[in-house]
Amino acid sequence: MNDPLVIFTPSGKRGHFPTGTPVLTAARQLGVDLDSVCGGRGICSKCQVQPSFGEFAKHGVTVADDALTAFNAVEERYDRIRGLKQGRRLGCQACVLGDVVIDVPPESQVHRQVVRKDATEREIVMDPATHLYFVEVAEPDMHEPTGDFERLQAALHAQWGIDRVTAPLPVLRRLQPALRKGGWQVTVALHKGHRDEHHRLIDLWPGFWEGRIYGLAIDLGSTTIAAHLTDLRNGTVKGSAGVMNPQIRFGEDLMSRVSYAMMNPGGDAEMTRVVREAVDSLAGELAAEGQIAAREIVEIVFVCNPVMHHLLLGIDPVELGQAPFALATSESLSFDAGELGLHQVNTAARVFILPCIAGHVGADAAAVALSEKPQESEDLVLVVDVGTNAEILLGNKTRVLACSSPTGPAFEGAQISAGQRAAPGAIERIEIDPVTKEPRFRVIGSALWSDEPGFAAEIAATGVTGICGSGIIEAVAEMRMAGLVDSRGLIGSAEQAGTLRLEPTGRTHAYLVHDGSAEGGPRISVTQGDIRAIQLAKSALYAGARLLMDEMGVDTVDRVTLAGAFGAHISPKHAMVLGMIPDVALDRVTSAGNAAGTGARIALCSVAARTEIERVVKQIHKVETAIEPRFQEHFVAANAIPHATAPFTHLRAIAPLPDVNFNAGGGGDGGRRRRRDGQGLT
Ligand code: FES
Repeated sequence: MNDPLVIFTPSGKRGHFPTGTPVLTAARQLGVDLDSVCGGRGICSKCQVQPSFGEFAKHGVTVADDALTAFNAVEERYDRIRGLKQGRRLGCQACVLGDVVIDVPPESQVHRQVVRKDATEREIVMDPATHLYFVEVAEPDMHEPTGDFERLQAALHAQWGIDRVTAPLPVLRRLQPALRKGGWQVTVALHKGHRDEHHRLIDLWPGFWEGRIYGLAIDLGSTTIAAHLTDLRNGTVKGSAGVMNPQIRFGEDLMSRVSYAMMNPGGDAEMTRVVREAVDSLAGELAAEGQIAAREIVEIVFVCNPVMHHLLLGIDPVELGQAPFALATSESLSFDAGELGLHQVNTAARVFILPCIAGHVGADAAAVALSEKPQESEDLVLVVDVGTNAEILLGNKTRVLACSSPTGPAFEGAQISAGQRAAPGAIERIEIDPVTKEPRFRVIGSALWSDEPGFAAEIAATGVTGICGSGIIEAVAEMRMAGLVDSRGLIGSAEQAGTLRLEPTGRTHAYLVHDGSAEGGPRISVTQGDIRAIQLAKSALYAGARLLMDEMGVDTVDRVTLAGAFGAHISPKHAMVLGMIPDVALDRVTSAGNAAGTGARIALCSVAARTEIERVVKQIHKVETAIEPRFQEHFVAANAIPHATAPFTHLRAIAPLPDVNFNAGGGGDGGRRRRRDGQGLT
């Protein structure tokens, strides 16, 4: 008679095994993805499986009730203390007695797929560089003198098939006490990067350690630094936090920081120091919020633009400020967190930085490619990652182009009179009635519109404090649709546009959105300066996209993906009214959230993704905006709202854009200002 047939789902892998084979052993021999940290000792409970019984016509087997051995003492004890879900078994304890169908639930799979629950769902296959292993190490023997570390290596080889392990000195120092305290049992965190030939001992805990290990995915932007504390077992984000990049005090955009470094001896080192400190305190903050120890953070992945990249690493960015914009290195980098002076993470934590594409197109653009995958798209997709420096990718399966465009910080709420970070109290949505010209808005922290009953009570704790990036985009677009701003970006006077909310401010006008002064709050207006800042930013964005379209030889794209720290919150319609993006049917514009941050998370959770992005960046062709004369032409034409020459036919079919012109009398110095703006980027 044949040995029993064991069929695993969902993989469908199957094989015959002698009676008495543990399910975990069968899974391993078939290459089924079934987790285990304790190596089958009945301690970790990671190997849980769900056997099914009865007729399985699909598989051609009948599973008898006694197809597995009965619940044993180890399982009973685990069930009593921790509770096993109905029908679950420990794969290392349950042994095969007859034909059986066994399901491996997602939480027992090492390489499980994690589906993100934001704007665009996608899957991350868990394949992190760092794993926990439980091992039993032989005790020392005077007659066979070997070191504890050599016996640990031998145990890892025998019990986990791991060949070579190295240990940094600080970890080695903790080895002997840990082994003795754990009774010669120890849980180790081992790291093996995609290019490493051997494992590296990151940390160790006496006995079986029930804790978890984490990684930080960090999107290091020019204006903000965002970090996601991610569980390396299942990819879930335990906490996210962001801070302003403290380098802002040395210059708001990248080039002003490069000039600061050029003009001030030691300026680069100063910027390096402050950004590392900010990252370190962000790590500490996330660990405290998540109630985990700093040593449990064992990996960090950074994505950043080339200037941030160099300043983080302590490399003078001077070469990035002048043609031919040479990077110190464009390759991905792996090194110890200690080399960045980070203390609020494990002392042996490993850092990975994605590769850069070119001098102005950095690891953040690579991360966007990893997240949005234009290189796999059938149709022509434009991916725009909106930030102080926009990363723009255009392509499909055959070719991908990339550039970066200096939009400035206006889209992040900086340089805006009432601008602020996206935080409770900030206006994030706004509508202006085209007839009455009255605004209604929503603030972060409340689902109610400002003209709905209960709004005042709901926002009482925060008040209305300012306008965030997505709010200012909507405000300017709504002002254009309501006829308060003309196509040149000039705000009309109260008489011209017909509302007393338009107030004179010197030679220009401002639109009052909210007056909180009676309650001691701010008066929140959109000023002419705000409109100019948004025009500069959106012109740079559009010009970058248009340059890539020229290079590709196209006048239209099939679809647009809007990404960025607040990408998920940008309204596609308002982005198009402003002319931030090329004209395309509205249902072909999607929001992708923080694509660079997502790319960082993918690289954190998967070594295979690191290999993939290294391959992909070599195929991306970069276009340099800084030395391209057509960029200037596109920039100037894009200054109008939505655009001076492009017809924007899709947009005009869905959004009325009144043909107003405020040049005469009410507008002041618009023409002169605009010319200056147009030259401002050279
Ligand atoms: S493998 Fe750890 S309990 Fe089964």
